[in-house]
Amino acid sequence: MTAQAQEIVRAHLAGTDEQDSLTSEQRSLYRQRIKERLQARDAVMVAHYYTDPEIQALAEESGGCVADSLEMARFGRDHPASTLIVAGVRFMGETAKILSPEKRVFMPTLEATCSLDIGCPEDQFAAFCDQHPDRTVVVYANTSAAVKARADWVVTSSIAVELIEYLDQRGEKILWAPDRHLGGYVRDRTGADVLCWDGACIVHEEFKAQGLESLKAAYPDAAILVHPESPAPVVAMADVVGSTSQLISAAQRMDNSTFIVATDKGIFYKMQQMAPGKTFVEAPTAGSGAACRSCAHCPWMAMNGLENTLAVLQDDQGCGQEIFVDPALAAKAMKPLDRMLEFGASLKR
Ligand code: 13P
Ligand code: SF4
Repeated sequence: MTAQAQEIVRAHLAGTDEQDSLTSEQRSLYRQRIKERLQARDAVMVAHYYTDPEIQALAEESGGCVADSLEMARFGRDHPASTLIVAGVRFMGETAKILSPEKRVFMPTLEATCSLDIGCPEDQFAAFCDQHPDRTVVVYANTSAAVKARADWVVTSSIAVELIEYLDQRGEKILWAPDRHLGGYVRDRTGADVLCWDGACIVHEEFKAQGLESLKAAYPDAAILVHPESPAPVVAMADVVGSTSQLISAAQRMDNSTFIVATDKGIFYKMQQMAPGKTFVEAPTAGSGAACRSCAHCPWMAMNGLENTLAVLQDDQGCGQEIFVDPALAAKAMKPLDRMLEFGASLKR
């Protein structure tokens, strides 16, 4: 780990459970052992920007990737390793398995889920789709394999506006699920006819415009970076709205020296690495008068630690943390996922 990465990890781990339970010597032993086991198992780590810095650093150092949900899907599909260790949340592991059925896919814990996935049960979603047969069904990647299997398209936040614009130009009306904030954002940006499922991310929904105004007053020269799962009044204050990777690029590209960031604080590791010398401030997660403050860190992403990552690499069974997707369901979900990857690739050409 570089000295800079070590410093970021140290700062971030202060006060976390893993910091409390493991000494720095133990953590370095864990990292070493995980790297050895990755090699022995022909495995590669695929981590999300919201995982703890130590996990992100480990993925990078061991030849894996740290990325947004779209790039994680692409990297896992294209990497030659026979085993993927997906450090993120459940839908990311399922997506990896659907796209690479021949690979074995493990997660540090299968309990790492997502409020958007939980808030969109397959049966209720199918009934919603049945009520609107005239609409093209577009679901966010943050959904179960069963919900994806019911969709025409899967999309991530990095290509959501472009995809809805494309479908709108073809005269299609959209049924969007599950995040109502992202759905509302793409509707506002494109003017498309978008009917939204009523889901939300428990992390982003906590960002508050009132607190953000006060913070902006304290840092008048700061640029505000916002993930579109945040509520509309917060999005309205943004200088840049985008997916995790788009927010990191903005932090690198823009001339501002200070950024107020409304997304999970795990992203600060990569922002500090890509834009050293700049200052990143967490957007406030509670309005004045609120009784408690939430922490802008996804509780499920935080479940990915050194101990459970090593545990799944110890033997062939991976502590029972292997992802399986029913092949019939996977075949159906593969179609809208392939479309997403193809559409994403076409934007780069
Ligand atoms: P990205 O697609 O931007 O990585 O976001 C995934 C996510 O879960 C955001 O909360
Ligand atoms: Fe789901 Fe929100 Fe966590 Fe992202 S941050 S995985 S949307 S709960």
